[in-house]
Amino acid sequence: METRDLDALVYPDRVHRSIYLDPEIFEEEMTKIFAANWVYLAHESQIPEPNDFITTEMGRRPLIITRDANGQIHALVNRCAHRASTVCQEACGNAKRFTCGYHGWTYGNDGALVGLPFPKGYPEGYDKSEHGLHRLPSVESYRGFIFGSMNPDVEDVATWLAGAKEYLDYFIDRAPNGNIQVRNKHRLTFRGNWKLAWDNAGDGLHASFAHKSFALLNEARYGGKKSLSQFKHTPDDTGMFGEDLGNGHIFVDQRPGLSGTFWDTQRPIPGREHAADTVRSEQGDKADALLEAAPGSMINLSIFPNLLIKGNQMEILTPKSVNESELHLWICAAADAPDEINTLRMRVAEDFPTLGNPDDIEIYERCQQGLEQVPEIEWMDTSKGLDVEEVFERDGNTIHRGAVTHDTPIRGYLREWKRAMAADPKVKLV
Ligand code: FES
Ligand SMILES: [Fe+2]
Repeated sequence: METRDLDALVYPDRVHRSIYLDPEIFEEEMTKIFAANWVYLAHESQIPEPNDFITTEMGRRPLIITRDANGQIHALVNRCAHRASTVCQEACGNAKRFTCGYHGWTYGNDGALVGLPFPKGYPEGYDKSEHGLHRLPSVESYRGFIFGSMNPDVEDVATWLAGAKEYLDYFIDRAPNGNIQVRNKHRLTFRGNWKLAWDNAGDGLHASFAHKSFALLNEARYGGKKSLSQFKHTPDDTGMFGEDLGNGHIFVDQRPGLSGTFWDTQRPIPGREHAADTVRSEQGDKADALLEAAPGSMINLSIFPNLLIKGNQMEILTPKSVNESELHLWICAAADAPDEINTLRMRVAEDFPTLGNPDDIEIYERCQQGLEQVPEIEWMDTSKGLDVEEVFERDGNTIHRGAVTHDTPIRGYLREWKRAMAADPKVKLV
C-alpha cells in the first residue's frame, strides 16, 4: 500500500476533508481499521444455544457467527470457497450446516466443507479439508461481547479495551448478574462517511442545538429537571465530561449532569406508574435498584471502530462505501430483571434514542454535503479544549479528559485512526 502523509491530514486541531471523501483511504480503512485490530461482532446472547448463528459484517466483509454443537464460537467468512457467492442469506437461526445456493457446497457450522455434490471430476487428490469456509484467526468474548480480528497476534480484548473496560463493566453490571440480552434491532442508513458517527459519538456540544426541538419539548412538558435538561444552559458547568480512553475508545459521562436519580429524572413513559407499583410490591428492598436499571445508562461509550453504546442500546456502525453507512440499533434487556423493567427499557429506547437519532443522521448528511461540495475549504475544526485537556494515568491507561463540550473524544479516536492507518497490518484468514 502506498505511504500517505497522515500527519498532513490529521492535526490535533483540525482534520482534512479527504479522510471522509477519498475512496482509496476508505479501502485502506477496511483492512487497517476494520480487520487488523479487534472489531465488535455480536453478543453471545444472540447465539445462546448450540448450532445458533447470526450474520453480520466486519467492515464490509460478510460473516456468519456460529456456536457449534460443542458450544465453541466461530467467525466464518460468508463467502463460498467455490465461486464466491455468499452462503448464508438469513439474519439468524439455528443450523448445523450451511448449503450454498449456487452449486450446493455444504459446510458445517465450524466452516468445514462436509458436502461436495457430484464429486466426480474434481482433480485427483482434491482435498475437501482445504476448501472449507475461511475463518477469522482471532475471536474472543469479553463478558458476552464477541470481538474478532484478522490479525492472529492481537493482544487480549481486556487489555485492548484499555480505559473502556471499566465503563463497559458498568454498562454490563447495571443488569442483575451482569446478564444482558440483546433483543430487537432496527436499522438506519445515512449518506455519509462512517467517521461522521464517530465525530458525533463523543460530542457533547451538539445536544443543545441538533436536538433542540426534543429539548424544548422536554422543557415545556416536564420542566427543567428531566434527562436532557443537563444540556440546556451551560453543560460544562454541570461536571459532565468527555474522555479519550486509549486505542480509539471514547466516552461521555452525563451522570454528573443529572439533578436526581436516573428514575426520578426519566421522562414519563407509558406504563411507568403501573410497572413501578408492581416492582415495588414484588421486589421489596431490591425495587429501587431495579428501577434505576430501567432508564438509560447515561453514558456514551464508543468502542473503536464500530460499537457505540448509548443509554441501554448498542449501535453497530457498518461502513458501506466512502459515503454510505448503516447503524444497527440493538436494544439490550436485563435478562434477570422482572419483565416490567425490560418493558420500561423498551419504552425508554423509544424515547430519546429513537427520536434523537434522526437528528444526528440528518446532521451527518449535511456534513458530508459540506465536505463534498466545497473543495476550496479543506478543514474541519477539532480544537475545542485542546489547550486545557487533562492527561493522566488511570489503572495503567493514559486518559485524556475534557469538559463535555470539548473535542477531546474526537481527537482521541483520530489519534488511533492515524496510528492504525500508518501501521503495516498483519492480516490473514484461516
Ligand atoms: S459458489 Fe457456492 S457452491 Fe458454487
Ligand atoms: Fe446526538
